[in-house]
Amino acid sequence: MIKAQRGTKDIFGDEIYTWQWILDNAKKVFQNACFSEIKTPIFEATELFARGVGDSTDIVNKEMYTFSVGGADKDSSSITLRPENTAGVVRAFIEHNIFRQSPPQKFWYFGPMFRYERPQAGRQRQFHQIGVEMFGIKEPTADAEVILAAVNFLKSVGLGDLEVELNTLGCPKCKNDYRNSIKEALKPHLNELCDDCKMRYEKNPLRILDCKNENCQKIFELPEIKEIIYKDYVCEECSNHFSELLGYLDSLNIKYSRNKLLVRGLDYYNRTVFEIKSSALGSQSAVCGGGRYDGLVEMLGGQATPAVGFAMGVERLYTLVDKINPKKIDYYIVSTDINETMKLAQKLRDNNLVVDFDMQKRKFSKQLEKASKVAKYALILGEDEIKEGFYSVKNLETGEQVKVNSFNELIK
Ligand code: HAM
Repeated sequence: MIKAQRGTKDIFGDEIYTWQWILDNAKKVFQNACFSEIKTPIFEATELFARGVGDSTDIVNKEMYTFSVGGADKDSSSITLRPENTAGVVRAFIEHNIFRQSPPQKFWYFGPMFRYERPQAGRQRQFHQIGVEMFGIKEPTADAEVILAAVNFLKSVGLGDLEVELNTLGCPKCKNDYRNSIKEALKPHLNELCDDCKMRYEKNPLRILDCKNENCQKIFELPEIKEIIYKDYVCEECSNHFSELLGYLDSLNIKYSRNKLLVRGLDYYNRTVFEIKSSALGSQSAVCGGGRYDGLVEMLGGQATPAVGFAMGVERLYTLVDKINPKKIDYYIVSTDINETMKLAQKLRDNNLVVDFDMQKRKFSKQLEKASKVAKYALILGEDEIKEGFYSVKNLETGEQVKVNSFNELIK
């Protein structure tokens, strides 16, 4: 038997109702806040992610589904299934001159992403993200708006209790100074770091702070290292940007905490970074990750444009939300006359009712049995009903049966 690939999942049956509900809420909340939907392709030029996400990141180094198409007479350029969607949205922003419109330009999206990771609970190779990207506003009001959109959406799906963890990475200069002092401080301990961190030390030293390895954690606790890690290193302008943001979050009553070790795993961030986590998710605890990326549009060939956004993992959201009961069928028609049944089903469906019937023309009792499993009401259309022009409607929860004389009463 051919099975679904490791780290991928079919979503159907009862589960799909909850997914649809999550998406309906996303659409409502983001569109109320004037984000419009954007759909970008699932594959893009590999270079977009190598430059955009950063070639020192795990995503680009180890996790991309990259392939090239064709032989001599075909397009042989390298393409990649998108591991995330910020780079794709930025590409579209530049390609369609969206930057010429008056800011802010605000988008939301939903779709599958692909990362070749070791599958485990909360970590898949094909997963889905709901995200938001806002362009054109450098003021921290934009960071606050974006965080508010994330919190409001989580509230709409019953997850209003989750706290936002946030940090500021500063501008490229602050980030660079911090990176150098971390490298300097960790130099004497280089041999004690885990293999991943040894690599990060050269390529992406800030990512070392994210390491969960016990030995590495012990090193971070050494007083001389701790002092460097926790030092306030950002310049005055970046520090003011961050304080102003915290002020907005306070006045919006958004619960947050500062996590100075939060650096995020993608290279494009500067200043604000944030995550929303839930302990109910176990080791893959982040349901949402985002931040500011003021340099990305220019780096990918556009005009310098400040930007901020986030993405949430829908599979992780799904494990956290209360599950929706699948919508039961309104009427299951039980009848011996398939022509009348099909006509009646059509009329009822035209009136927005959820209706089904037996297409195999099975016995009355079999039809009734099926109705009681799937529907709220059995709509009985037997010989008497057809001859005399009425309907019998049986409430399948209470067992009560009533005579209904007109079609209009059926659709009330
Ligand atoms: P990210 O932190 O890589 O950020 O992913 C965002 C969210 O996607 C995570 O918090 C998690 O819920 C979900 N996620 C990531 N990888 C997996 C996986 N393998 N399986 C299941 N869920 C996963 C980004 O992707 C950035 N583009 C977010 C962003 C938008 N920053 C600014 N704008």
